[in-house]
Amino acid sequence: MNIVRTRDYEEMTGRAADMIFEQVNRKPDSVLGLATGSTPIGVYRQLASWCQEGVLDFSRVRTVNLDEYAGLSKDHPQSYSYFMQEHLFDHINIDPQNVHIPDGLGEETAECERYDNLIRSLGGIDLQLLGLGHDGHIGFNEPEDHFPAGTHMVRLSESTIQANKRFFADESQVPRFAYTMGISDILQSRKVLMIVSGGDKAEILREAFTGPVTPRVPASILQFHNDFTLIADEEALSAF
Ligand code: F6R
Repeated sequence: MNIVRTRDYEEMTGRAADMIFEQVNRKPDSVLGLATGSTPIGVYRQLASWCQEGVLDFSRVRTVNLDEYAGLSKDHPQSYSYFMQEHLFDHINIDPQNVHIPDGLGEETAECERYDNLIRSLGGIDLQLLGLGHDGHIGFNEPEDHFPAGTHMVRLSESTIQANKRFFADESQVPRFAYTMGISDILQSRKVLMIVSGGDKAEILREAFTGPVTPRVPASILQFHNDFTLIADEEALSAF
């Protein structure tokens, strides 16, 4: 596990964007695993800006997103599909056919199978970008008594509903279920890059990477990944 400590969000963003830049330059048809949430917004802005300057080419890149709310169509303004268009895909030269996100309206069994087969058919993920939930979730793999392997539907935890209600008109609008890649999908990625910012994540970050590996803190499983980089700012690392 490689830990990069940065001064602040901006430096964290720059370091993470550099890693993705190097990945795409080294392998122009990379499969990038992508996350939503507030943390990666700066990274996406930087990647879009390099693409517009002509120094980064997404024309052969394939992407697979971690998760999507169940019950939301891809043009719903709070869907993760919409988020990705708005923050990244609308601003880069990616082929829309190379963009993959779980279908929030898909039937449960068929959609989970389709998404796992899709990841396999792309040859797996070269670099998976992750944020960290306040309850230790990665993707939407919430604290449980086991590590779920493949793509599955989850009931969102109360802490996740509370954290995500800021994006909705009110709490009752936050979907209660989501599709997420499973823990094996994530662990099979050749590289995993997690970005974490802010003091509100300090305690869970400490638990995840200095405590025992347990499905009660899903991110802790990354301690076992052999090419895992954590880029976190000083506030997030303040309890380490
Ligand atoms: C989103 C995702 C989540 C977020 C996590 C942190 O696709 O997979 O695990 O990464 O909830 O969210 P932020 O960055 O908003 O704190």
